[in-house]
Amino acid sequence: MFEQLSALPDDPILGLMAAYREDPNTNKVDLGVGVYRDNDGNTPILDSVLEAQRRHNEQESTKSYIGPPGEAEFNRAVQALLFGTNSSVLAAGRVSSAQTPGGCGALRVAAELIDRARPGATIWVSDPTWANHVPLLSDAGLAIKSYPYFDRQTSGLLFDDMMATLDQVSAGDLVLLHGCCHNPCGVELNNEQWGDIATLAANRGFTPFIDIAYQGLSAGIDEDAFGLRCIAEQVPEMLVASSCSKNFGLYRERVGSLAILSKTSSESAAVLSQMLNVIRGIYSMPPNHGGAIVKTILNDEQLTTQWCNELAQMRDRINGLRDDFASKLAAQIGENRFDFIREQRGMFSFLGINEAQISRLRDEFSIYMVDSSRINVAGLNSHNIDYVCSAIGDVL
Ligand code: LMR
Repeated sequence: MFEQLSALPDDPILGLMAAYREDPNTNKVDLGVGVYRDNDGNTPILDSVLEAQRRHNEQESTKSYIGPPGEAEFNRAVQALLFGTNSSVLAAGRVSSAQTPGGCGALRVAAELIDRARPGATIWVSDPTWANHVPLLSDAGLAIKSYPYFDRQTSGLLFDDMMATLDQVSAGDLVLLHGCCHNPCGVELNNEQWGDIATLAANRGFTPFIDIAYQGLSAGIDEDAFGLRCIAEQVPEMLVASSCSKNFGLYRERVGSLAILSKTSSESAAVLSQMLNVIRGIYSMPPNHGGAIVKTILNDEQLTTQWCNELAQMRDRINGLRDDFASKLAAQIGENRFDFIREQRGMFSFLGINEAQISRLRDEFSIYMVDSSRINVAGLNSHNIDYVCSAIGDVL
């Protein structure tokens, strides 16, 4: 049977990791996969994570199953992180959630659940969106349509076009929104725009689906959840996929969460039972270790403060790099065409250069970025930023 299967091309993002690893050039620069790096190019384990891991290892007394929802304490703590400690929808018992294997696990469980509730449902995704959104959602049976988002001429937001399209979305469709730090373009919605979308969702009856994989890496934990919380107050139903990969630096532990807002607490109980049944049918239950670390941090005041400080350091470093990079590029090429990088948030921005220029950067300078010209700003550092700016100047 396997002779029917032909080899597929490498994943557009993960394929770059292997190519970078094999490149012998000692000046090579990885601006590809979305992983935070420090000024020496390392992705260290956060001190708060190391301490939580130590405590967890000391206290862990069993390796028995944790069950499809994961740990109750993890789910409660992550719900508060997402919806806020004073959330009225949490108080009303309208949110049910499960710990998932990363944000990808959350997206896939959500898609399977949507397909159960509304077979063949349509989900609208931003143009562009994260490369893995489409396979994760469409492989579960959802139909994908896109709404305008990123303006390739100005590197800004096409808000009016976005709203005009969303105003035509059928009641019952879903709309996927990046909670903060848009991947791949780095262009965010401001608070007023989130308010407009919440009102539109309530009026038109589409269901918002927030993917928030970078909470805390734009402006802060609460600031980055503004849109999610604003929408939650106004709509009857919504979905939230979240990830602890980036903000806790727990990439390889695969820990995330799917939270679903329902109209009533009794509907929420039914949704949870379906969600757990979907999980049982795909991977049975999530891995424990990463969730145990997050739970330990979020249930301890001192560790939470330490984690928030470490998160702020990562955020400040990325935002500082954005300023430096834009200034150095302007000095290198004698014009400010890259100034938009300062305004964008999170790990990613599109450089807006063409395929030939991207290939030259890879082949001649060993600078790796996604074919769309998406760069991971966190891959820049004081050792490589001048080299990258000068190489970009060369290929332009
Ligand atoms: C990225 O966009 O680079 C990250 O989210 C990693 C991934 O899985 O694609």
